[in-house]
Amino acid sequence: MKPYIQKILEIIKPEDRHYMLDLGCGDGEDMAYFRKGGFTVYGIDKISTAGIPEKSDIIDFEIKPNTYSLIVANNTLPFIGDKDKVKKVISSMANGLVKDGVMYLTLFGEHDEWFGKHGMSFFKEVEIDDFIESLSTDLLEKNIREGYGITSRGKEKFWHVLMYMCIKKPKI
Ligand SMILES: C[S@@+](CC[C@H](N)C(=O)[O-])C[C@H]1O[C@@H](n2cnc3c(N)ncnc32)[C@H](O)[C@@H]1O
Repeated sequence: MKPYIQKILEIIKPEDRHYMLDLGCGDGEDMAYFRKGGFTVYGIDKISTAGIPEKSDIIDFEIKPNTYSLIVANNTLPFIGDKDKVKKVISSMANGLVKDGVMYLTLFGEHDEWFGKHGMSFFKEVEIDDFIESLSTDLLEKNIREGYGITSRGKEKFWHVLMYMCIKKPKI
């Protein structure tokens, strides 16, 4: 189980596990853990795979406000080239959470070996920190991975990954 999944299952109590949304869910491997953990899972991906509820582009998918206990976008947002669109998706993720709902997302930083690749987005840490700060969520955890590792195609590359886990703020 990926560390981020384990962390989420520690944070969200079983009685608070309702709807969860996985943006760019791939073959649904992560969703299977969340389903097992008691969430009602829903995933979208632009590539159709057996078992994925909906084939859709993240940019076109409307996240219903105030609906989900959990929304994740693990290793998917960097594949959207327009940074403003990425920020729009992140805002919609925050709005889609119920009170005490959690969102988790990863982005690529500027030291990543793929920096500058067409069709991908890369963020300065401070830029995204400020943006996350402006949302209707509180930061629970931020992690940075910087170092060599293997891609899904088995090649070694230098990764610079910014990981954010946030919780929906209570209404004042
Ligand atoms: C590296 S995989 C990560 C899959 C999964 N989230 C995980 O952590 O294992 C990236 C996934 O995001 C999907 N994806 C990339 N851009 C997308 C977009 N604009 N809309 C929907 N899915 C997208 C790809 O099709 C792919 O399945």
